[in-house]
Amino acid sequence: MPARILVGVTGGIAAYKVPELVRLLRRAGHSVRCVTTAAAEAFVTPLVLQTLSGEPVRSRLLDPGEEGQIDHIALADWADLYLVAPTTANCLAKLSHGLADDMVSTVALATRAPLLLAPAMNVNMWAHPATRENVSRLRERGASFVGPEVGELACGWEGEGRMSEPAAIAAAAELALGTRSLAGECVLVTAGGTRERVDAVRFLGNRSSGKMGYAVAAEAARRGADVVLVSAPSHLATPAGVRRVDVESAAEMRAAVLRELRDASIVVKAAAVADFRPSAPAQRKLKKEDLPEGAGLSLDLERTPDILAEVCRAEGERVVVGFAAESHDVVEAAQRKLARKGCDLLVANDISSPATGFDADENQVVFVWPGGQVEELPVLPKSGVAAQLFDRVEKLREARH
Ligand code: PMT
Repeated sequence: MPARILVGVTGGIAAYKVPELVRLLRRAGHSVRCVTTAAAEAFVTPLVLQTLSGEPVRSRLLDPGEEGQIDHIALADWADLYLVAPTTANCLAKLSHGLADDMVSTVALATRAPLLLAPAMNVNMWAHPATRENVSRLRERGASFVGPEVGELACGWEGEGRMSEPAAIAAAAELALGTRSLAGECVLVTAGGTRERVDAVRFLGNRSSGKMGYAVAAEAARRGADVVLVSAPSHLATPAGVRRVDVESAAEMRAAVLRELRDASIVVKAAAVADFRPSAPAQRKLKKEDLPEGAGLSLDLERTPDILAEVCRAEGERVVVGFAAESHDVVEAAQRKLARKGCDLLVANDISSPATGFDADENQVVFVWPGGQVEELPVLPKSGVAAQLFDRVEKLREARH
């Protein structure tokens, strides 16, 4: 779908590739406008960018002539995607700290569009702890990155730091733009591991980081859905465009899910919910001095409510997807779980390998369907699993309309 792409150009030698990038984006049907820093103009002239984009180029903040054509806030609002290429180390630092002292960084602070960065710099600058921190902070805030690639650098060094080629950046822009395929849908996602109170300081928990559920929520938002993320404790940043409701225990998660359920047309339960909780949590801290010398402590546990089964029984035409964390007999266990809970699709993941499942960036899942069919997927980043999941969910929704 044609989109409005704002390209921010900063001062690095890789800026010479930007005219080609602008040409590719235009050829794909997008409207393109460019903003530059003063340093960028040493590497690529505004006239080239203006000629290829078909739009005036903005480079100076507070310039009466330039602001009169289209002011920088209007430009920030105009964009469906803000793509900064090349992103120098200096620009990364500014964006990560929210500085706004030139056109490129000011627009980044003002825009609500997704941010795609194509870094280019010397290998040691890229590897520097300051740059690493800036990159992680920006990623946590939802920025996407394309590159840098490994190769020969203009400074004479060899290594990671080359800006990706224009075709790769244009492909990443398509991905970052997302689709509107879930527009009008309301997606309710659960994520993270619940905590069940033992006493005033302790809880029973599990290893879920929330990464899988957060990737699901981010993907649904990218596809244009209204997204509510009911999250057990997680250190992850809320994905762009997602409303987050924080909970701790299975009981709190159940209450939040049931509150949000009425509006939801799609529910994805990626949370690792405790099956048992202490039946009588202590109000104060349990102390070993209060027990006879050398005595152990037994906890009496009771079942928690099965939220997924309750959601499946609830009235309403909605697609419900469950997850299943299995350590062995993955498919058979998932098939039994699917039959017991009654959802439309169960995503089973094998959690026996540390490289996938809990707290990993990648996952290997099997889609298990009510008819008994199974689809095994390769190891994918969790964002890739989320994309595959919604490709299936969209077909289910279409079939029901
Ligand atoms: O968060 P990450 O570190 O990225 O890890 C991801 C994950 C491994 C936690 C995730 O991919 C996953 O498998 N989530 C489900 C884990 C789980 O609790 O599976 P289960 O087999 O115990 O539960 C099956 C389904 O019932 C799940 O959708 C669960 O949310 C739901 N459930 C379980 C118990 C309960 N009391 N209520 C529920 O709704």
